[in-house]
Amino acid sequence: MSKSTSSKRWLQRQGKDPYVKKVRQSHYRSRAVYKLQEIDQKRKLFKPGQTVIDLGAAPGSWSQYVAERVGANGKVIALDILSMEPIEGVIIIEGDFTEQATLDNCLTNIGNSGADLVISDMAPNITGIRDADQAKTMYLLELALDLARQVLNPGGDLLMKVFEGAGVDDFRKELSQLFQRVSNEKPAASRDQSREFYILARHINI
Ligand SMILES: C[S@@+](CC[C@H](N)C(=O)[O-])C[C@H]1O[C@@H](n2cnc3c(N)ncnc32)[C@H](O)[C@@H]1O
Repeated sequence: MSKSTSSKRWLQRQGKDPYVKKVRQSHYRSRAVYKLQEIDQKRKLFKPGQTVIDLGAAPGSWSQYVAERVGANGKVIALDILSMEPIEGVIIIEGDFTEQATLDNCLTNIGNSGADLVISDMAPNITGIRDADQAKTMYLLELALDLARQVLNPGGDLLMKVFEGAGVDDFRKELSQLFQRVSNEKPAASRDQSREFYILARHINI
C-alpha cells in the first residue's frame, strides 16, 4: 500500500471514529483515555491516594485521567521518551525507558514508599518488520514487568499494552506466576482490526 493511500485511510477512519469526536470535546489530550477509562470502570483500578507510574505517557491523557482518579493525596509519575506538556499533580520524566539513567530517575522519584500500580501504554516505533517489531514490544513489556517487581507494594497491579504475537503466551505465563489474577482486556476504543490489547495482572504476590 502506498503511503498516501494509507494516510488517506487513516484520515477516513479518524473522521468516523466516535472516540476522536468525543475527545475533541473533552479536556483529554488523546482518545487513548477511553481505553483506560473503560478498563477502570470494568475492573476498578484506581483509588484516591494511590501512587501510579505511567510508562509511555505522552501526550498525557492517561496521566490526566489517573491524576483525577487518585486525587491530591495520590502521586502520578509519567514517563516518555517524548516531551510532554505539564499536567497538574503529575511528575514528568523525559527519557528512554530502555536506558538505565531513565529507570534510575524513575526509581528516585518513586522513593521508598513504592507504587500501587504500574500502567504502560508504551509502543515501539513500528518499522513494518513484524518479527523485529514484536521483539521490541516484548522487550518493553519485560522492562515494565521488571520495574513493577521492583516498586509494587504488596497487592499492587500492572496494566500493559500488548500486541498479539510471538512471546505473548510465555509472558502471560510468567505474569501468572507472579500475580494472583491475569486477564486480557480489549476495550471498545481499541480498534477491532488492531492486534493491540491490554494485559491486566492484579495483586502481585510479595
Ligand atoms: C500510544 S502512546 C501513549 C499514549 C498515552 N497513554 C496517552 O494517553 O496519551 C505510546 C507512547 O510510548 C512512548 N514510548 C515508546 N517507547 C518508549 C521508550 N523506550 N521509552 C519511553 N517512552 C516510550 C512513545 O513515545 C509514545 O508516546
